[in-house]
Amino acid sequence: MNGKTAIYPGTFDPITNGHLSIVKRAVKIFDKLIISILNNPQKTPLFSIEERIDMIKHTLREFADIEIDVFEGLLVDYAVKKDVNVILRGLRALSDFEYEFQMALMNRKFNRDVQSIFLMTDYKWFYTSSSIIKEAASVGGDISGLVPEFVNGKLKEKYGMVKNT
Ligand code: PNS
Repeated sequence: MNGKTAIYPGTFDPITNGHLSIVKRAVKIFDKLIISILNNPQKTPLFSIEERIDMIKHTLREFADIEIDVFEGLLVDYAVKKDVNVILRGLRALSDFEYEFQMALMNRKFNRDVQSIFLMTDYKWFYTSSSIIKEAASVGGDISGLVPEFVNGKLKEKYGMVKNT
């Protein structure tokens, strides 16, 4: 098992500057990062898996040693399949803590060899999330600075704020 690879899992609907900040710091710690998008048929995301991959690829085009992947089912089973024993998550405000703690403990219950590691988000992104950004963008709120410009454009297209060319 390669201990220097980490899986950074999430919904990434869409990738935000908060995610990007975690990635930038993680690549200085790990030799390789796998950004793993959960394909959850029970959720109705705004962006398709393909669109999310495209936005992540575009945002992280300057980074080497980043793999973008899609998974279904239990995260720890996926980690074993990928031969990785580190799950990386970003931690924001206090409200994240309980959910992340629950998830980490559940993951640990399922597989004690897979470790959850957290990076505290930069204070600039403490209170932002993909969900709140989508909500703001859907009613024409200016979300520039919270997401990469490319993603901002895609959100505007989705919400009909610009013509889809
Ligand atoms: O970006 P998100 O929505 O906070 O990411 C949540 C994610 C994808 C990391 C989490 O829902 C997940 O790992 N789902 C897969 C199912 C699983 O293993 N859940 C944890 C134990 S119940």
